[in-house]
Amino acid sequence: MVIFENVYKEFADGTVAVKDFSLKIKKGELIVFVGPSGCGKTTSLRMINRLIEPTSGKVFVEGKDVSSVNPVTLRRSIGYVIQDIGLFPHMTIEENIAIVAKMLKWPKEKTAARVEDLLILAGLTPPAKYKNRLPEQLSGGQQQRIGVLRALSVEPNVILMDEPFSSLDPISRENLQSELKDLQKKLKKTVVFVTHDMDEAFKLADRIVLMNKGEIVQIGTPNDIRLNPAQEFVKTFIGLDRIMAFNASTFVDLILEKPELVLKSGEEASQVIKRVSNPKIIQVVDELGCWVGCVLPKDLEQGAQLGLTLGQVASAERRLLIESSTLADAAIALRESDVPIAIINQERKLLGVASDEGMARITIDWLINAKNQLLEPTPNA
Ligand SMILES: Nc1ncnc2c1ncn2[C@@H]1O[C@H](COP(=O)(O)OP(=O)(O)O)[C@@H](O)[C@H]1O
Ligand SMILES: [Mg+2]
Repeated sequence: MVIFENVYKEFADGTVAVKDFSLKIKKGELIVFVGPSGCGKTTSLRMINRLIEPTSGKVFVEGKDVSSVNPVTLRRSIGYVIQDIGLFPHMTIEENIAIVAKMLKWPKEKTAARVEDLLILAGLTPPAKYKNRLPEQLSGGQQQRIGVLRALSVEPNVILMDEPFSSLDPISRENLQSELKDLQKKLKKTVVFVTHDMDEAFKLADRIVLMNKGEIVQIGTPNDIRLNPAQEFVKTFIGLDRIMAFNASTFVDLILEKPELVLKSGEEASQVIKRVSNPKIIQVVDELGCWVGCVLPKDLEQGAQLGLTLGQVASAERRLLIESSTLADAAIALRESDVPIAIINQERKLLGVASDEGMARITIDWLINAKNQLLEPTPNA
């Protein structure tokens, strides 16, 4: 479906971004390019739709050498989703999704029907509720979903996605990852997905292409890579970026984790107590995902006896961190708490939690890394 044959890219300033890149991507496969920042993921991806031309080597899409296809025609036949998708702010959601169909002069009815189908597919229902809104009237997660729909609109066989979820909060990101995986199972498109986040790669990929310094280090299924990491690089890549950033004034999102349990404020404590076993703490959010408070086991029991909802028993008095807090703030807060602490943004949206374990893990990783660096022989020693 997409083939790279000994592709090199050297930019005008002499930077060699991609070296001897060869890869066969199968039809219907979700392949993920992953590696540290600057390793050549975006450059490789953009050589597929000719936003970047290789210095040497060839790229084929559906059997055709892309250098022989008109770039505009090529790009209209390949979906492309980027981080801040850039919906057009003055166009409605319908107009935004339909933009390529319009350029391709699809009949109006066909386009309108396609937009409806896509909105339904992405769970934005009823479509009438969303299609006349402007982008700013949707949440960040919903806007990014529209970006994905726009890429799907004219039924491309190949879709390129460059860190499409990186700027979303962890909960929206998780949701969109799951949706993408489901969607891809249904539609069987060939998807080339770029990320620097190994967890995201493990979650989404049929196959992972691990890159470092412009070269492919390993290709394999998530299990292959987990069980048989090809090099030391593969083993250490996962935590390294995080570790390098570690210090007291680093933002707390470095240790942001998924909360153990997030439930809606309207749920009855008596029902929850039957359903979940021994939660250490429950984070409670309202319909919009805004943080209402947290519920400890004793509050839950009391609420169940009194017939209250989670919203009624949730305590908002516990310590709380905002996203601009530092690791030092988090350390102080955690010292005074025996449960994970909620982290919210300015709109009070729950982003995740910080825990003792998360803090310990990053500290341990940092110490090990510091030790390894000290032991590394210097050239002049
Ligand atoms: N237009 C350009 N001119 C010169 N160097 C570039 C250009 N675009 C990217 N690079 C360099 O090429 C390397 C790979 O970049 P990129 O493919 O964007 O990496 P990634 O997407 O993996 O973070 C980096 O060193 C980057 O600085
Ligand atoms: Mg990139």
